[in-house]
Amino acid sequence: MVSAFDTVLMQKALDVAWAYQVLTFPNPAVGAVVSNEQGDILGIGAHQKAGMPHAEVLALKAAYETLTEDRRIRTIEDASELHAFLKEHHNSLFHNLTLHVTLEPCHHFGRTPPCSGLIDALGIKRVVIGSFDESNTAKGGGAFLQKKGVNVSFGALKEKCDLLLMPFTCKEKKRPFVFFKLAVSSNGVATGGIITSLDSRKMVHNLRNCCDLLVIGGNTVRTDRPILDARLCNGKAPNILIYSKQKSFDVTIPLFDVPHRSVMIEETLDKINDYSMVMIEGGQSMLNALSHKVEWYLIFESPHAKEGESIILPRGLQKIFSQKVGEDTMSWYYKHGE
Ligand SMILES: NC(=O)c1ccc[n+]([C@@H]2O[C@H](COP(=O)([O-])OP(=O)(O)OC[C@H]3O[C@@H](n4cnc5c(N)ncnc54)[C@H](OP(=O)(O)O)[C@@H]3O)[C@@H](O)[C@H]2O)c1
Repeated sequence: MVSAFDTVLMQKALDVAWAYQVLTFPNPAVGAVVSNEQGDILGIGAHQKAGMPHAEVLALKAAYETLTEDRRIRTIEDASELHAFLKEHHNSLFHNLTLHVTLEPCHHFGRTPPCSGLIDALGIKRVVIGSFDESNTAKGGGAFLQKKGVNVSFGALKEKCDLLLMPFTCKEKKRPFVFFKLAVSSNGVATGGIITSLDSRKMVHNLRNCCDLLVIGGNTVRTDRPILDARLCNGKAPNILIYSKQKSFDVTIPLFDVPHRSVMIEETLDKINDYSMVMIEGGQSMLNALSHKVEWYLIFESPHAKEGESIILPRGLQKIFSQKVGEDTMSWYYKHGE
């Protein structure tokens, strides 16, 4: 059974996970919280990048540090080494603890060992799960733990956890996850050169590094002459789709000169369906043209005002998550498809 307190802890798990939305792709963004019988939080963790430890493992690592004087675990970053260390040194410390996790713990050997096996080995008493893992490779962790005698509850804040999981769900269904990224000043201006801080721009480069396609409007290409790469994080530049009625562009525009990328100029957005993680960058006309098709919006807002016309956002945006990125505020919004 899921209690009101379970929803409080699951919300904390959601909040840490959202900070890494998209950045974990092709893995899901996941958050986890370890608590004791009194409801004290002993550890919180979020999956940060594919190949790095899962949220459960980082939350258990933090809990181990809270419960012991043993600081050796602090320097371990590799997932397999963390699994091995916790299995060897847990000393029955986890027996009365509860783990809240936004996604059913994985039940397979991928780039990291299965979380289900670690949770079982540590003797965790109760596991509260938000979303089911529907993937063919990793599903079944909840049922496995139940069979092992762990008290497993499903469905805490399920709708919110399912929203968090959307990029992964799209990938499993072989559909693209598409989001519109926008930078605005404090008075809503989205034009006229750089708007947000270097911290936000680094974050955007990290996001580009996880995208396989970036869609940009023809007018932005002509006026801004952008590069649209991921140089601020030494990342991989995504392919570009220029949405335009024009057949060709000035090829001295820097985006055409980035190695290992293809640039397409298209009058339709059909090519999006060949990709899995798609970011759209554009201004007002692009927003107007695509708002009936795009459900996800990521907005970076600067605390500084700027001269110009305020952008008009699509109606019905529901704020899902907000966090500070340097001096700016980064927010994810969801809008039900029309
Ligand atoms: N703040 C931000 O995050 C951000 C991001 C990007 C851009 N911007 C700013 O936004 C301004 C430009 O905004 P904008 O909305 O005018 O331009 P835009 O983002 O380039 O979008 C408009 C362009 O999309 C193409 N387009 C629109 N509907 C289309 C359709 N049905 N079929 C094919 N192509 C279509 C057209 O390209 P063609 O004219 O080539 O046909 C049109 O010029 C610039 O000042 C830029 O700096 C801001």
